[in-house]
Amino acid sequence: MRAMVYRGPYRIRVEEKDVPAIEHPNDAIVRVTCSAICGSDLHLYHGMMPDTRVGMTFGHEFTGVVEAVGPSVRNLSVGDRVLVPFNISCGSCFFCARQQFGNCHNTNPNATAVGGIYGYSHTAGGYDGAQAEFVRVPFADVGPSKIPDWMDEEDAVLLTDAFPTGYQGAEMGGIEEGDVVVVFGAGPIGLFAAKSAWLMGAGRVIVVDHLDYRLEMARTFAQAETINFTYVDDIVVYIKQLTDNLGADVCIEAAGAEADGSFWQIAMASKLKMQGGSPVALNWAIDCVRKVGNVSVVGGFGPLFSAVKFGDAMNKGLTIRTNQCSVKRHWPRLFEHVKNGIIKPSDIVTHRISLDEIADGYHMFSSKLDDCVKTLVYPQAA
Ligand SMILES: NC(=O)c1ccc[n+]([C@@H]2O[C@H](COP(=O)([O-])OP(=O)(O)OC[C@H]3O[C@@H](n4cnc5c(N)ncnc54)[C@H](O)[C@@H]3O)[C@@H](O)[C@H]2O)c1
Ligand SMILES: [Zn+2]
Ligand SMILES: [Zn+2]
Repeated sequence: MRAMVYRGPYRIRVEEKDVPAIEHPNDAIVRVTCSAICGSDLHLYHGMMPDTRVGMTFGHEFTGVVEAVGPSVRNLSVGDRVLVPFNISCGSCFFCARQQFGNCHNTNPNATAVGGIYGYSHTAGGYDGAQAEFVRVPFADVGPSKIPDWMDEEDAVLLTDAFPTGYQGAEMGGIEEGDVVVVFGAGPIGLFAAKSAWLMGAGRVIVVDHLDYRLEMARTFAQAETINFTYVDDIVVYIKQLTDNLGADVCIEAAGAEADGSFWQIAMASKLKMQGGSPVALNWAIDCVRKVGNVSVVGGFGPLFSAVKFGDAMNKGLTIRTNQCSVKRHWPRLFEHVKNGIIKPSDIVTHRISLDEIADGYHMFSSKLDDCVKTLVYPQAA
């Protein structure tokens, strides 16, 4: 089969690989019909995540058709059209029993933190991902769901990570009726967090980024106010002035390990690898939220320390909540929102490419060229 393969930082290409086989009675093999490139993939592409091995296939957001099932699989049959959460989870450990699928204890032998994730380096279990023609789906009775007849496939792909992650970002913010919510990052995750903040009762939603074309989407897609942080002297002072000098009730960090805005933080994180990610947006969130406010962190960081303003957070009495999304926990409610037309997730898709064009796709998304927000990859289109 054809698959995207990592050759080192900023170097990927399409290669021939063996079609994955059933390795365990609970496995399914899925023929990928649509996948996506995520901001998390950029951290891998940029060499930011430890133990990203040459030869790995990325891709953790996908839909497909069940090609084969192991003898123990009960909920899926060959030919089913499925959407698959980015989390690989066993369904029965301490964490899965509490629907904390992102922290499954059985699917990632290498870490005590995150569970297994498709195509996300050996820090997340070393599973090959879905930017390929086929993918092996472990614990096939746990993660995948059949795509309902009424659901568009492109909406389904966005339900495998970006929408639920943004939604969980808003949920972890503990938003109360009328709250002022500031979202840092106007990528897919930030856009869905902003949109979700309204669903949870926010009274005002403000999105911060430095890319005007994305802020435009934050206005049209998420009905948010926007601030380009390069146009203001000091984003913290600016947000304080907008919020009676108290600060926002809730700040959501959706920029992640490569947050811009400080030369030194970027150099320490991306160039020197001396911290697990640039905490610029996270520190802004800590500074911009009011005392005893909530900070929700959905942006991805590597498993090392980062220079986070923890003393300020402590002295302000902040509640900081973080996690990888537990995608499947959110599906019942989010399926309803999509079905009822409350949200059309695929409205954020700006590019559709074939698997053969994936190197260009990564470059475009990484360099934010051609007003790229979200790229879908069609393996069969070539
Ligand atoms: N927690 C999870 O389960 C989960 C799931 C998916 C993605 N993520 C993470 O979420 C983050 C965002 O993903 P995405 O797909 O939206 O990526 P993206 O790269 O498209 O978006 C990030 C945005 O943040 C902006 N930004 C950079 N520095 C900023 C700053 N200082 N302040 C405000 N905005 C800033 C960028 O311009 C960009 O628009 C990534 O770190 C990704 O790894 C986490
Ligand atoms: Zn993702
Ligand atoms: Zn588990």
